[in-house]
Amino acid sequence: MAASCCGQALHIFCNMETYVGDQAELKAVSEEAKMVHRLAAQGAAAIKEVAMVISKGVNALASIDDESIRPASLDDYSKLFTELQIPPIHKDYQDDAIFANMRLAGPNPVMIEQIGSPPRHFPVTEAHYRASIPEDSMEAAGKEGRLYLADYVQLATHQAGFIPRAKGKNEQKYVYAPLALFAVHKTTGEFLPIAIQCKQTPANDNPIFTPKDGTSWLIAKTTVEIADGCVHEPCTHLGRTHFYLDPFCVAMHRQLAHRHPLFMLLSPHFEGTLFINYQAHAHLVSEGGPVDLLMSQTIGASLDASASSVETYLFDEQLLPRALKNRRVDTDTLSTYAYRDDALLYWNAIYDWVSEYVAIHYKTDADVVKDNELQAFIHEATSKEGGRINGMSEMNSISYLNEVMTMLIYTGSVQHATVNFPQWNYMSYMPNLSLGGYSPPPTSSDATEQDFLNILPPMDMSQLQMNVAYLLGTIHYTELSKYADKQFPPEEDEALKKFQARIKHIGSTIEERNKTRIPYPILLPNGIPQSINI
Ligand SMILES: [Fe+2]
Repeated sequence: MAASCCGQALHIFCNMETYVGDQAELKAVSEEAKMVHRLAAQGAAAIKEVAMVISKGVNALASIDDESIRPASLDDYSKLFTELQIPPIHKDYQDDAIFANMRLAGPNPVMIEQIGSPPRHFPVTEAHYRASIPEDSMEAAGKEGRLYLADYVQLATHQAGFIPRAKGKNEQKYVYAPLALFAVHKTTGEFLPIAIQCKQTPANDNPIFTPKDGTSWLIAKTTVEIADGCVHEPCTHLGRTHFYLDPFCVAMHRQLAHRHPLFMLLSPHFEGTLFINYQAHAHLVSEGGPVDLLMSQTIGASLDASASSVETYLFDEQLLPRALKNRRVDTDTLSTYAYRDDALLYWNAIYDWVSEYVAIHYKTDADVVKDNELQAFIHEATSKEGGRINGMSEMNSISYLNEVMTMLIYTGSVQHATVNFPQWNYMSYMPNLSLGGYSPPPTSSDATEQDFLNILPPMDMSQLQMNVAYLLGTIHYTELSKYADKQFPPEEDEALKKFQARIKHIGSTIEERNKTRIPYPILLPNGIPQSINI
C-alpha cells in the first residue's frame, strides 16, 4: 500500500503542496540523526542540525487517500513495513500477559492504580474474576492489595473526530472510555487482565468482557489500547513532559544569568525543548495535522485535554516517589513494574547528583531564600501571568530546591524517554495500538475477525501513524549525564563523575533485570536523551 499524494491533499506541513510517505527517506533521516548524535557526543553544538533533520522527517510522512481503503486481513498491516523493520510486538500483542504488561511497561505506564474493589459502575462479579483466575477470589485479591484499575473516564466527554475524505464522504472515528481490571496472581505474581467494560455506564449493550469472550475480548482489549493512546499523546506525552517544561525553559532564560549555577545545571536538560514544542504546536497538533487525523477525538478535544493535563499535574504530588504512592503502586505487592523499578533508579541518581551540586552553591536554607534569581524563576513559572504551573511549595529550603531540580531534570530526560520512545516499539503496528478507533465497541460476546478488522484504522492512517512513530520514536539526540566538555567548573567534577558512574551501573542493573522479566529496554541509559528534543 503506497501512501497517496493524490486528490484532496491536506496542507499539513507548511511549504508543501502534497507529500508522500517515504520509508526510505525516513530511514535516511534517522541515520542522519544518529550522525548528529555522534557529533553531539563529541561536544559539537548540534541542535540546529537536529532541527533540520526533523524538518526533513516531517516531509516524509503520508497524506490521506480520497477514499478509505480498509485492510483485507491483518497481513495488510504487516505489509506496510517495507523498508522499516516490523517491531516484535506484532508477534504477541494478542497474548493477555503482554496486554497487561503494556500497562506496566508500555507507552503510557502511569494509568493503573491499586483498588480494594471495582467501582459501582464497573460491576465485575466473582464469576467474571474466576474466568481469569479460577483458583482465586476478587475479594481476597482486593483485601491483599492485588487488584488494579485502569480507568479512561477522562475520554468519556470527548467528541469523536472524522477523516475528511473526497466528495464530502467523511469517515467516522469512535472514542472509547473503558475501565479495565487487573490482578496480581496470588502464587505466580503475574500481572493479568481480569475484565473490561468498554464504556463507563453499565448496560445490556455495554457488557463486561473477560478472557473467555474470544474475539470480543480481543476487541475490548483493543478499545483499551486505543484509549491508552488517546490519553498518552495529548496528556502523558505532550502535556506532562513537553508542555510541562515549557514555562520552566522560558523562565530559566528570562530570570537566570548564564553563569548562575542553576542555569548551568538545567540548560542541557532544556536544550531543544522550545524548538520541538514549537514544531509540535505548528505541525503536529494543528488542525488537519497528524494528531487531528490519527486520534479518535477531535483536535479541539485533544488540545483541551493537553491543557488540562498540565493544569492538573500538581508539581509536588508528581515527584516520582509520591506519584507512585498516590496510585498505591509503590509496594512489593506489584513485584515487577518495569517503569517504576527502572525510573526510580534514575530518580535517586539524579537526586543525589543534584544534591551534591546544590550543596556546593547553597550552604543554608537562607541562601535559597535570598537568591533573587531563583525566586524570580519559580515565581515566573508558577504565576497566573506566567507559566501557571500548579502545586509548587514555597522555595525556602535546600531540600525543596533539590526536589525541584530533580523533578525538572527527570521529566526532561527519563520521564520523556519513558513516553516518547515506545512510540516506535508499540505504536507503529496498528493491531497493537492504533490512536484511532473506527467502529463502535462490541456489545456481545459473538464478535468476529471482521469486527476486529473494522475497529482498526484504514491503510493511509496506518501508514501515517507508523511514519510519525518512526520519526518521533527513533531519534536519540544526546545521552543523560553526558554533558558537553567544560559545562561545569572543576569543583563539580567529582560529583559529576559519581553521577556518570551511577548511570552506567543502572544500565547493568536493567540488563540483568531484563533477563528475568519481559524485557523493558526503553530506559537503558543510551535511550535517554538529556532533554526533550524530539
Ligand atoms: Fe516527545
